Amino acid sequence: MNETLQTIWKRRSIRRYKPDPIPERDLALILETARRAPTGANRQNWRMIVIRDPELRHKVAEACNRQMWMAEAPLILCLVTLPNEGQVSGAIVLDHAILAATSLGYGTCWVGAADREALKKLLSVPQDHSILCLTPVGVPAEEPPPRGRKPPAELFRLDGFATPLEYEL
Ligand SMILES: Cc1cc2nc3c(=O)[nH]c(=O)nc-3n(C[C@H](O)[C@H](O)[C@H](O)COP(=O)(O)O)c2cc1C
Repeated sequence: MNETLQTIWKRRSIRRYKPDPIPERDLALILETARRAPTGANRQNWRMIVIRDPELRHKVAEACNRQMWMAEAPLILCLVTLPNEGQVSGAIVLDHAILAATSLGYGTCWVGAADREALKKLLSVPQDHSILCLTPVGVPAEEPPPRGRKPPAELFRLDGFATPLEYEL
């Protein structure tokens, strides 16, 4: 298997982090990978807030249904979409950042459970913008086993919805 597939396959949701800081060069690589993501009609109408301040991280974790483990990570990324940008583009951008972070050895976790109005206030996000999701980024302090996935025949169909598609690896 090549390195790209290895990175995608090894990603896990990490909910325990070491406090080690993320070197500037690694952060730059993560952000630059997000910047290269495709968006509808190449609009790029998204913004990513990099949250580094420890007190703010704590408040952000509180606004994310008190998922306080998020604040253990040295960084939290928050993906914001502008009024005329779809959620799909935003999800692709954040996933690019997450996979870049994974490839550099960092842990991440999609976080969608949040009081988005509280987050907007906390992060000074304009009212007509939307907060899509967040992720902490940091050195993992746990190695969770892979979560199961539904079997291919349930997920894939051939030439229409009725026929399951199976494959062998
Ligand atoms: C859109 C989205 C929102 C999520 N929100 C949360 C969340 O708020 N808190 C959390 O602990 N995990 C959250 N997760 C992580 C999922 O629980 C996790 O991806 C899933 O259980 C599969 O585990 P894995 O990521 O380790 O493969 C979210 C995942 C996605 C894709």
